[in-house]
Amino acid sequence: MTLGWAVWLLGLCAVAVVTAATESNTSTVWGTYRPQLFFGLRPQVPRSLVTGLAWFSTVDYEHASVLRHSASDNEGIDSFKWLYHDGRNFGIQEITDRKYNYRLETSFVKAGHDHGRPGHWAVRVRGTVLDESQPAELSTFFYVGSENSEAAFTLQGEQLHGTDLGGFSVRTHEHLGQAPIKAFTAKRVPSDKVWRGTDHILGDMRPHLQAMARSQETWPPAAEAMQLTNSSEANANWYALQRTYRGNFTYDIMLDSALSDQDRWDSDAVTAALEQHKRAYDARFEQKFALSESFTPKQVAYAREIFAQLLGGIGYYHGTCLVDRRPAEDNGLVLHNMDDAQPQEEGPYSLLTATPSRTFFPRGFYWDEGFHLLQIGAWDAELSMELLESWTRLIDDNGWIAREQILGEEARSQVPGPFQTQYPLYANPPTLVWGLEAYVRALEAQLAAAQEGVEGVDGLAAPEADAAALSRMYGRLQALYEPWQRHYEWFRRTQRGQIRQWDRHATARHEGYRWRGRSYTHVLTSGLDDYPRAATPHVGELHADLHAWMGSFARSMQQLAQVLGHADDALDYGEQLEDIATNAVDLHWNEKEGLFCDLSVRSDDTSYFECHAGYVSLFPMMLRLLPADSAQLGASLRLLRDETQLWSPYGIRSLSQRHPLFGTDEDYWRGAIWLPINYLLLGALRHYATEPGAHAADARAAYVELRKNLVKTVLEVCATR
Ligand SMILES: *[C@@H]1O[C@H](CO)[C@@H](O)[C@H](O)[C@H]1NC(C)=O
Ligand SMILES: *[C@@H]1O[C@H](CO)[C@@H](O)[C@H](O)[C@H]1NC(C)=O
Ligand SMILES: *[C@@H]1O[C@H](CO)[C@@H](O)[C@H](O)[C@H]1NC(C)=O
Repeated sequence: MTLGWAVWLLGLCAVAVVTAATESNTSTVWGTYRPQLFFGLRPQVPRSLVTGLAWFSTVDYEHASVLRHSASDNEGIDSFKWLYHDGRNFGIQEITDRKYNYRLETSFVKAGHDHGRPGHWAVRVRGTVLDESQPAELSTFFYVGSENSEAAFTLQGEQLHGTDLGGFSVRTHEHLGQAPIKAFTAKRVPSDKVWRGTDHILGDMRPHLQAMARSQETWPPAAEAMQLTNSSEANANWYALQRTYRGNFTYDIMLDSALSDQDRWDSDAVTAALEQHKRAYDARFEQKFALSESFTPKQVAYAREIFAQLLGGIGYYHGTCLVDRRPAEDNGLVLHNMDDAQPQEEGPYSLLTATPSRTFFPRGFYWDEGFHLLQIGAWDAELSMELLESWTRLIDDNGWIAREQILGEEARSQVPGPFQTQYPLYANPPTLVWGLEAYVRALEAQLAAAQEGVEGVDGLAAPEADAAALSRMYGRLQALYEPWQRHYEWFRRTQRGQIRQWDRHATARHEGYRWRGRSYTHVLTSGLDDYPRAATPHVGELHADLHAWMGSFARSMQQLAQVLGHADDALDYGEQLEDIATNAVDLHWNEKEGLFCDLSVRSDDTSYFECHAGYVSLFPMMLRLLPADSAQLGASLRLLRDETQLWSPYGIRSLSQRHPLFGTDEDYWRGAIWLPINYLLLGALRHYATEPGAHAADARAAYVELRKNLVKTVLEVCATR
């Protein structure tokens, strides 16, 4: 992106920008935004509807005692995975529940979700018996609840009507030849407890079961006893329907929006739409990632599935978070005593985010999200932009974003108490800014196309459609600029380290950085938790990884400023990037060890290098701060290739095999091969392979081999787990 283009763009966009900035893509009102459940749709609208699926087996009372609902309660489930998920309009999930002897397929399709309207959707639940020689009986529950305290559902037969989201109804459709036992309940529950699906289902059955237990009669079969009550409370805001089947089954649940004039779903349309979406998805997946030439169909399907997990892991969260804003007495040196937190509730806030793990971490994590957005952006730049915008709204007045986003009671219910509180001095690797990349690229492509139009034969103006798209994209990026400047300055201000105080010499006087909030054994804020650091925390510490991250952040800000035409800012960011790159060597390069190292301070107040060969040593190369012909690049490449240290046939290890702490204690970042970091290394190797210099050939060779090794690891080690 050149400055010239940006200036040209400014002229073109000056008029349209303001109105365009607020328009957003709305095909994402409803989604499977409760990834913490096995299956649950909700809209990105606070205090509105939530839905969920739950089930148990009714072959006997023992099986019926465990209701599947939250993805964390997965004992006895072989796997649950999205086979397809496009992040917007459809998805197909497969759940292999060995203990209950069923494979469940849960799919959804949407229609008419545009221009701010929620549209219709259909959900299909299909159960296939795994082992037909064994008893197979499954009771499934689908519920709809409203978190709006004014909501009141009405029932006509089994059909539900409600007023949320402009009015809606829910219908079900049984496929032919099936005769399930049917039951339902409609209750009034507190609007902040609507998400507790398991409690409401079991609570509805409990009085009846307790009465049964007290009576001396022999108990009926579980399928008969474990039923919802067929009762309907006045002013209900929570509704569930139950279907109990023996053998294979399929049924559909459809939501019709009163605001949509599209045709409502019927079962044939659902079948056809799922097939059509699948075909379109396969074609688009090939067009985007072009895997079929190099990989077998099975391997391509595996790639498609892991990618679908990412899109199917997107969740919407709303609620308060816990923040302890008491000033740290030690300038943030040592991690707060987490058992002694005195948090205040802040918010409520909303967040649309991908999640690192549906079972263990179903919530937003700042530095994971940067990696998520790189991938999501490659598939759908508008969607990654939507996620980034959502995160951007969490940047506070000081420029801080909590690294772990635990919004609302449902999210908190999954996090141990001491880990719930966030501290406004603590950072996390600034990867999130990568969420801009796909969109900046898309804007640049639009620009190039439009500029061709301008310079074309008639030489007058870009076609109107191009101009409108350009100004809309420009407006969205421009709206992010101020909060991201604030966030960047927050990092530079709060994570700054000391240089001259410890008689260190560096070209740029202020570019040195230290993670706040560490303990003797962990720097959780760095993301590399137990990676070895100086044994005693010290305010004079400087961290090589954070230093490199700050360079990378400056580069992203420079790109953003450039594309938006803020030429002076771009120059400032560019200077900061250069200063950080220079200081990486001035401060962190240890000539004797031939390594990039942290620094700390001895008890006699002298500065020293704290060296631990591993990822931290590779960061200046990994984030492309080193000149292509530098000796430090050569040394970093040698460390990377050293089989006795970091190189392995599976990928690059986090810590040298020769390090005394290799593989010790919790062994998290002490040897394990982390794919996101390996991905960054690949990017750096590819970069240096194409930069003329003494190390290009080595970088290229390492790139080719590492890439091969990583693909092999994923396909042969991960895929068979
Ligand atoms: C919304 O996203 C869809 C899918 O990527 C795209 O086809 C559509 O043009 C977008 N609409 C707007 C207003 O950006
Ligand atoms: C609920 O109603 C259905 C008929 O729609 C009936 O088959 C079922 O036994 C009833 N269940 C209970 C617990 O009353
Ligand atoms: C259940 O569905 C599976 C998969 O479609 C099929 O192979 C099996 O024959 C079905 N079982 C019965 C009893 O229809």
